Amino acid sequence: MRKLLVTGGAGFIGSNFVRRTIEQHPDYQVAVFDKLTYAGNLDNLVSVSENANYKFVRGDIADRGAVARALEANAIDTVVNFAAETHVDRSILSPDAFIEANSRGTYVLLNESHKHGVERFLHVSTDEVYGSIPEGFFREGDALEPNSPYAASKASGDLMARAYYVTYGLNTVVTRGSNTYGPYQYPEKLLPLFISNAIDNEPLPLYGDGMQVRDWLHVDDHCAGIDLVLHQGEPGEVYNLGGENERHNLDVIRGMLNIMGKPESLIRPVEDRPGHDRRYALDNAKVGALGWSHAVSFEQGLERTIRWYEENQWWWRKIKSGEYEAYYKAQYSQRLSS
Ligand code: NAD
Ligand code: TYD
Repeated sequence: MRKLLVTGGAGFIGSNFVRRTIEQHPDYQVAVFDKLTYAGNLDNLVSVSENANYKFVRGDIADRGAVARALEANAIDTVVNFAAETHVDRSILSPDAFIEANSRGTYVLLNESHKHGVERFLHVSTDEVYGSIPEGFFREGDALEPNSPYAASKASGDLMARAYYVTYGLNTVVTRGSNTYGPYQYPEKLLPLFISNAIDNEPLPLYGDGMQVRDWLHVDDHCAGIDLVLHQGEPGEVYNLGGENERHNLDVIRGMLNIMGKPESLIRPVEDRPGHDRRYALDNAKVGALGWSHAVSFEQGLERTIRWYEENQWWWRKIKSGEYEAYYKAQYSQRLSS
């Protein structure tokens, strides 16, 4: 493993992974391949942009020719696929882009990787492919019962990675991470949305009763887990990466407001998300056997994340205009006015 194609590397987790890889593996060459959708942002990669081992290629994983050119031109031996449409609420408003990127795009990327002799292919997936679990923890062999168009389109990518391993012998490995948070996360997801709204004393639209449970994983831990599985995971296998930090949404938000010194009156209960999964929880035994566990406690990670959004308003204020405003209106204006 020396020449990596990191698809979706201009997004939240991908850009954190690229910065980490360049620092931790100075002998690797990293080509980021990203479509730069609304969620892709070259500001996320400024700190590595001058590094001789880094290169950016704009392209779509569903575009066969563009993928083939990127693999050939950079003599790629390893693919790490972060590229995806990632927001559940947007998948409910308009699923098409999710099928195109997450289902068809993953297939095209797998197929071209196989044709071009890629030696290792890590597909980054999510705990949401399992669906909701009232108690206990999902293990890697459990049935996939995705409930949102986002989760279903991701599950289809996981299954295609499996098929390319079994049928064509492509050396695939899949990670399923839990809810990830940290710097450079687009302010549509719960924490960056609520932190940035709270900085501006704007309402925090909490879906339903706020008693849904998510398992929070700091992006540094998620990237360390992906790196470990990339190097040590068994071909054809799937590895859960759970944060071991289950929290009710309401508790997360109260903790956040407390750190920020903002009042709970900012919380505005609004109409729930349709098909809203009640609880996600992962069994980490398999990745634990490889030597991974989280290093960042939720309390520490939350505080660091809040400080980052407070200190880097240049980063998210630019985003909160244009396309973002149109999405925000479609998703929240009726909810917040009723
Ligand atoms: P993100 O939305 O911040 O970034 C996605 C990136 O993919 C963007 O840079 C975007 O431009 C790019 N992209 C989208 N479609 C593309 C296409 N067709 N071709 C090339 N590039 C494309 O997402 P994220 O939160 O960083 O998530 C990265 C991956 O991790 C996704 O596969 C997601 O399903 C998975 N994941 C995310 C979480 C989470 O909590 N954020 C948890 C588990 C797994
Ligand atoms: P989100 O960050 O969208 O991640 P996911 O849906 O992938 O878990 O949401 C995390 C939780 O926060 C989820 O239970 C939905 C809830 N939520 C709200 O209550 N209000 C919001 O405005 C958003 C975006 C999320």
